[in-house]
Amino acid sequence: MNDKMRILRLDASANPGESTSRVLGGRLIARLRQTGADIELRRRDLNQDVEFVDGDWIAANLTAADERDAHQRERLALSDRLLEELRWADHIVLTTPMYNFGVPATLKAWIDQVCRAGETFRYTANGPVGLLEGKSADIIITTGGAPLQSPVDFVSGYLRQIMSFIGIDRVQIFGADRMNVDAETSFAAAIDSIEKAYTDDDGREVA
Ligand SMILES: Cc1cc2nc3c(=O)[nH]c(=O)nc-3n(C[C@H](O)[C@H](O)[C@H](O)COP(=O)(O)O)c2cc1C
Repeated sequence: MNDKMRILRLDASANPGESTSRVLGGRLIARLRQTGADIELRRRDLNQDVEFVDGDWIAANLTAADERDAHQRERLALSDRLLEELRWADHIVLTTPMYNFGVPATLKAWIDQVCRAGETFRYTANGPVGLLEGKSADIIITTGGAPLQSPVDFVSGYLRQIMSFIGIDRVQIFGADRMNVDAETSFAAAIDSIEKAYTDDDGREVA
């Protein structure tokens, strides 16, 4: 396929070097390029520009956009930038390790910045509805010892829920779990599942 594909790549590992999740993210995007996809890539390291929500942020977010003062607009500036990146993308590639059974604090900070009522979800009588449309996501998760999909995996289900909450239901998860147990096998299995996901039943490459 030759359609333009706008990819937002988000990396959460605190390891700035050749972290496993970052390497797998690179391999996934390389695989997508192999399929002939015309990729436009924007990349964000979630360890940069980290901001936590606080009282001022909450007050600014609850104030109607046209009534916010300069301080409130400034307080939401990073969040607005992150939202602009999300809206721009057709496809999200999110890479993250498991930290203490959950997501790294940097990824949680990003999630808190982008889940905004009226922007990425809205409340209805039947519960919240996601406002992002037509997007998909590939999520890569690495762990040291915890098996993914086990009772101590508070990453996979949580990230699926967050994506669904903001309107992204087409989500694939690729895991290289238990890297401290058998790194070679885990890494190879992750590469294999990435290649299978972008190959159709006849062995042709798809995207
Ligand atoms: C702060 C910290 C907390 C971690 N917590 C867990 C954990 O709860 N369970 C687990 O299986 N591995 C845990 N790990 C191991 C990482 O998930 C594992 O090494 C992973 O492969 C790192 O991915 P990366 O190379 O992309 O950074 C932790 C690592 C760090 C640095």
